[in-house]
Amino acid sequence: MTGAETHERTFYELDRSSMERIMRDVVAEDLSVVQGGILDRFEQAAAGLFGTRHAVAACNGTAALHMALFALDIRPGDEVIVPAYGYYAMALPVCMLGGIPVFCDVREDDLTLDIDEARELITSRTRAVIVHQPWGCPADAAALRSLADRHGLSLISDSSHAHGVLWNGRPLGHYYDFVCTSFGKGKLISGGELGAAAVNDDRHRDRMLLFGHVNRVPDALITHEYRHMHNAVGVKYRPHPFAMALALDQLKTYTRRSRRLVENARRFEQAVAHMPGYGIFATPAEAGRVYWRVPVRVDASRLGSAESVCTRLQGKGCPVERKGRLLIPEHNAVSEFYGVKAGRRFPVAERVLAETFQVRAFALYEEAEMERILALFRAEVKR
Ligand SMILES: Cc1ncc(COP(=O)(O)O)c(C=O)c1O
Repeated sequence: MTGAETHERTFYELDRSSMERIMRDVVAEDLSVVQGGILDRFEQAAAGLFGTRHAVAACNGTAALHMALFALDIRPGDEVIVPAYGYYAMALPVCMLGGIPVFCDVREDDLTLDIDEARELITSRTRAVIVHQPWGCPADAAALRSLADRHGLSLISDSSHAHGVLWNGRPLGHYYDFVCTSFGKGKLISGGELGAAAVNDDRHRDRMLLFGHVNRVPDALITHEYRHMHNAVGVKYRPHPFAMALALDQLKTYTRRSRRLVENARRFEQAVAHMPGYGIFATPAEAGRVYWRVPVRVDASRLGSAESVCTRLQGKGCPVERKGRLLIPEHNAVSEFYGVKAGRRFPVAERVLAETFQVRAFALYEEAEMERILALFRAEVKR
């Protein structure tokens, strides 16, 4: 694989000439930007992507979630509902603030948060719900909003897999108090190491600056509460301009590219769904989704374990993987280091994790590659 091809797969069709242009643009501007310039352009673009009034740049997705939870004033003993299936960075910032992640199982059909179970988990100490949009499929944002409103909770989307997805034709900023995302390595839009938290509320926006944006406080604040502060009170979470420039470049063409990726991923899913022994996950009718990975389910009685099928496919050069440690309550950063004891099992998340692997959606861009992957899948059925 040439250097250019590697970039295309990591950075969504970034080529040498756009790389050189980005580099020229970045060094022509302020490399430690605290006002205007690329910081402004990136924050506006991130707000546009998620349909909010504001966005605050972050050096990665974990930092974005940390800023959002600080903005909500999560304190020791506060409970935050977190999906059991996802990435452990969804729980980590809750723990760092002394809060308690309360894990919730997911739906068997589309892997999103089980809202009925979440309702049962709400106590007088619950402050917020963090919602994953796994592999690019949005959860039922309207149902979550009414649950949150009924119980006075805040709603945070972790949209790291799901840049620009819609629910009932509306961006997630319409439903959620915060839409946090990673634009990290290999994400649909990537700055290599980058994130953002999109938000509508002015005070929440300013509290995120107060936590994560040293030297933007007090001048960049838009509300009055913290105007007297000499500077920020948390950590320096601002990203490097080069990361923002990379992401901005990919954002320009994201809609067109992701439409193609979605069309191809749907065709791929339909073909796989007809092969005995494989299963695919549902996409709700209200969802305007994207694909970061395509999860595929394996019937072990017909094909052998998901792990063995995945390993055989990998051996034949198929771009499939089984992402590890997705059962967050069992991640030892959470269970051991922070001592969070879930004290129960998560039957759906555990079953799905045992029975699935994922296809890298980027590989489905090209027809020939898609046909090659499908042929390898078929060969497993005939074994
Ligand atoms: C669902 C989810 N949330 C949060 C993160 C954390 O993002 P970052 O690695 O940019 O801190 C990731 C990273 O892969 C993720 O997949």
